[in-house]
Amino acid sequence: MSESKEGKTPTDQLGRPLRDLRISVTDQCNFRCAYCMPKEIFGPDYPFLPKSEILTNEEVHKLALSFAELGIEKIRLTGGEPLLRRDLVPLVSCLSKIDLVKDLSLTTNGTLLPRYAKGLKESGLNRINISLDGLSPNVFKEMSGGRGEPSAVLEGIEAAEQAGLEVKVNMVVKKGVNEAEVLPMVRFFRDKRITLRFIEYMDVGNSNQWKSKEVLPAKEILDTIAKEFPFQPIDPNYKGEVAARYRYTDIPAEFGLINSITKPFCSDCNRARLSANGNLYTCLFATFGHDLKTIVRSGICQPDLTKHISGIWRARKDRYSEERSSQTSIQKKIEMSYIGG
Ligand SMILES: C[S@@+](CC[C@H](N)C(=O)[O-])C[C@H]1O[C@@H](n2cnc3c(N)ncnc32)[C@H](O)[C@@H]1O
Ligand code: SF4
Repeated sequence: MSESKEGKTPTDQLGRPLRDLRISVTDQCNFRCAYCMPKEIFGPDYPFLPKSEILTNEEVHKLALSFAELGIEKIRLTGGEPLLRRDLVPLVSCLSKIDLVKDLSLTTNGTLLPRYAKGLKESGLNRINISLDGLSPNVFKEMSGGRGEPSAVLEGIEAAEQAGLEVKVNMVVKKGVNEAEVLPMVRFFRDKRITLRFIEYMDVGNSNQWKSKEVLPAKEILDTIAKEFPFQPIDPNYKGEVAARYRYTDIPAEFGLINSITKPFCSDCNRARLSANGNLYTCLFATFGHDLKTIVRSGICQPDLTKHISGIWRARKDRYSEERSSQTSIQKKIEMSYIGG
C-alpha cells in the first residue's frame, strides 16, 4: 500500500491510515488493578523501567512531530498512571504547540487530578478520560487491587470539570466482580451529563490471566441499561472511533461501549502506540515493538525519522482481535501498563 489521498499519510497493508497516537509516559502506577497490574506480579521486585530508559520530553516531542507529519491528528497520553510523571505538564505544553495535532487528551485514574487539572488545561490539554470501575468502595477496591477510594476519583472528576476539561468516564466491566455497579454508575453520570463508557475486559498482556468467561459482553450491558433508561444508537464522531455511541432519549446525555472482544474493530484501526521507553507498537495485542528510542538518541534528522516511522506503518498488517483464538491468547503479549490503554 502507498499513501492515502490526503498526501503524506501512509496506509498499511490493509489500507488503514495512521491517525491516532497513544503515548505511554510511564510504566509506573499507584493502583494495582487486577485486570492490568495484578499486585501478585507487579510487586516491589517488579522490574519497572529505569529512568534512563524513559524518553525525555524533548525525545517525545521529536517523535510526535514526525507522527504529526505522517497524519496523526490526535494524541492521547497514558501509562501506567501518567500523572505520576513529574514533568507531564511541560510535556502537554510542548505537544499542544504542534499545529497539526488537533486533539490532545489524557487517560488517568484521576486520583492526582485535584493537583494537576488546572495546569493541564492551561498547558493545552483538550480532553480527559477518567477510569472508575464502581461507586461502591468495596467493589472499587476489588478492581483497583486495594488501592484508592472512589471518592478520590470523584474529586478528580470534579477538579477536571472545574478546570474546563471535557470529561469522559471509563469503566472496565468484569463479570462476577463489578457488573452490579453498571446501573448505579449509569444513574450517577447520567445525572451529571458526563459520558460513561463501558469497556469489555480485554486479554491485553498475560499477567491478568484473562479468561473469556470473565468478559461481560456489551450486549448484556445494553440490556441492563435498557431496563431503566430509554436510549438509541448514534453515529460515530469519526471513522475508526472505537466506542459505539448511544444517546438517552429523555435527556441530553450519552454513553458508549468499547466492545473489542465481542465486536472487534481491527478493520478501521488507525492507532499507533509508543511505550514510555520508545518502542512503537502497531497493535494493542502486539508481541514485539519497534525500537525508536535508539534511533532518536542516535541524533537522526527529522525527515529521516519520519521516513523510518512511515516504513513501519506501511508494513503493518496486525488484526489480532479479529483473529483471536485460544492459540493467540496464550502468546507472550505486551502488558497494558507498559503500552498504555
Ligand atoms: C492502562 S490504563 C492507563 C491510564 C490510567 N492509569 C487509567 O487507569 O486510566 C488505560 C485504560 O485501560 C483500561 N484497561 C487496563 N487493562 C484493561 C483490560 N485488561 N481490559 C480492558 N481495559 C483495560 C483501564 O481501565 C483504563 O481505562
Ligand atoms: S488500569 Fe490504570 S490505574 Fe489501573 S493498574 Fe492499570 S495503569 Fe494503573
